[in-house]
Amino acid sequence: MIELHDKQFVPFISAKEIEFAITKMVQQVEDDFIDETPVFVGVLNGSFMVVSDFMKKYTKPCEVSFIKMASYEGTSSTEQVKQLIGLNQDLTGRSVVVIEDIVDTGNTLVELKELFKAQNVKHFKIATLFFKPEAYKKDIKIDYVGIRIPNKFIVGYGLDYDGLGRNLPEVYKLKE
Ligand code: IMP
Ligand code: MG
Repeated sequence: MIELHDKQFVPFISAKEIEFAITKMVQQVEDDFIDETPVFVGVLNGSFMVVSDFMKKYTKPCEVSFIKMASYEGTSSTEQVKQLIGLNQDLTGRSVVVIEDIVDTGNTLVELKELFKAQNVKHFKIATLFFKPEAYKKDIKIDYVGIRIPNKFIVGYGLDYDGLGRNLPEVYKLKE
């Protein structure tokens, strides 16, 4: 068990399971983009670890860019998704794969989809390491899902509770 701020968390998903899930996602993306050089767009802050491990496993030509969005306060999602750092690369005609750490309500995805619609990209796909199907309220298709999890608050592997826990190499869930 670990403590972050005022809350306790228990081990939930091991580093091995995470690695396995990322390997699977990379294989799927490589198969889908045979003659393309995709641009992976990581959604900061949470996705920095998954983007790093994902790219190290990706064996073909690819590029990376980051965008910063924030919607969470404490342990619950807010309706307002803010774009804190925008895209600074021209993505016209490019194949874009957004890489998310986790999709919860889907509010962030709606925002991202709007943003990329204005960019005239060739392909727009969404990959997420973690997905909470019970919390998902949108109908945007998620193309690549690493691990489906119940509607629990998790930390580790890039995910935080009010800033803490991102450095953990495995994932913990809130103790009930
Ligand atoms: P959504 O907009 O509700 O889908 O939330 C997406 C963002 O909220 C993610 O990219 C995370 O930054 C954050 N988030 C969602 N669920 C969790 C969680 O269980 N732990 C930590 N952060 C989370
Ligand atoms: Mg995020």
